Amino acid sequence: MRVGVLTGGGDCPGLNAVIRAVVQRGAREHGAQFVGYRDGWKGPLEGLTMTLDPGVTAPILATGGTILGSSRTNPLALDDGLRRIRETLSGDGVDALIAIGGEDTLGVATALAADGLPVVGVPKTIDNDLSGTDFTFGFDSAVTIATEAVDRLRTTAESHHRALVVEVMGRHAGWIALHTGIAGGATATLLPEFPFELDEVCDLVASRSAAGRASILVASEGAMPADGSGMVLLEQGEDAFGHVRLGGIGDRLAGEVEQRTGVETRSVVLGHLQRGGAPTAFDRWLATRLGLRAIDGLVAGETGIMTALRGTRILTVPLGEATGRLKVVSPEEYAEARALFG
Ligand code: F6P
Repeated sequence: MRVGVLTGGGDCPGLNAVIRAVVQRGAREHGAQFVGYRDGWKGPLEGLTMTLDPGVTAPILATGGTILGSSRTNPLALDDGLRRIRETLSGDGVDALIAIGGEDTLGVATALAADGLPVVGVPKTIDNDLSGTDFTFGFDSAVTIATEAVDRLRTTAESHHRALVVEVMGRHAGWIALHTGIAGGATATLLPEFPFELDEVCDLVASRSAAGRASILVASEGAMPADGSGMVLLEQGEDAFGHVRLGGIGDRLAGEVEQRTGVETRSVVLGHLQRGGAPTAFDRWLATRLGLRAIDGLVAGETGIMTALRGTRILTVPLGEATGRLKVVSPEEYAEARALFG
């Protein structure tokens, strides 16, 4: 069997661990051969390939990013996108595909599977917003980096009796903020799912300041005030999958808090730091197991599925289940974070 492999969408720690597991297992156990498609769906659209064999993938377990490259190219936005992909694969003698990505990449994988191509998806995103799996790899690495940043920012905030707003990624789901806020003991954690009352945030900062304490506010990039002004955008326009670029809530919040409370307030945007560098041990463990299950499933003739984590078990779910609905933070989960605000 000849298998194409690609990684699409925003990169995240653990992608290389999946690629390694797929290729090592596929070659050793199933005698499979591989073609690496470069830069997400751009690869099969434009015939951009690279060698993918056990020699190439042996040393990449702990390396961040993706050796295949990535992009947000959307073949579904082109009239003949799926046909071009099918033609490239058939020209390369590729019988089946493993697509490693988030809701956008896996949405294309779903369309290809419906078109008759054997496809297995592997879920990735630091945002952890994919349905059908308890966690995506990359998320734990992002939360670990953000929590370490909060720990560091706390000591400088305490020294200067300041408030510090830490803006984290996550798009329309607040998972990174939620876990970072709990792990970092934030004064308040603000998520896109639950518009925040500015007065409440300012009261928390003011009362900590009155007690001689600094404040740490963790704000998801999609967090928004309850006044209906909406999410803060970094720029106008959308990417090929229709996503806006979020960013700027940290600065805006810091300005409001300082003005209303008189407490000196700074903001820090963690941005792509959350996506770079080596995966945590958890993400290596998860990514490896998802990759093993993906290649075993593909060789066994499974298609139109995504590998997933449920509890500690790796299983599979229909691709449509993962891409149909965004997984967001529930009121009960947010209440756990709110319980220790202040
Ligand atoms: O989806 C992952 C993610 O990192 C989001 O959290 C963030 O909003 C977006 O990608 C950033 O995208 P880009 O790398 O295109 O700036």
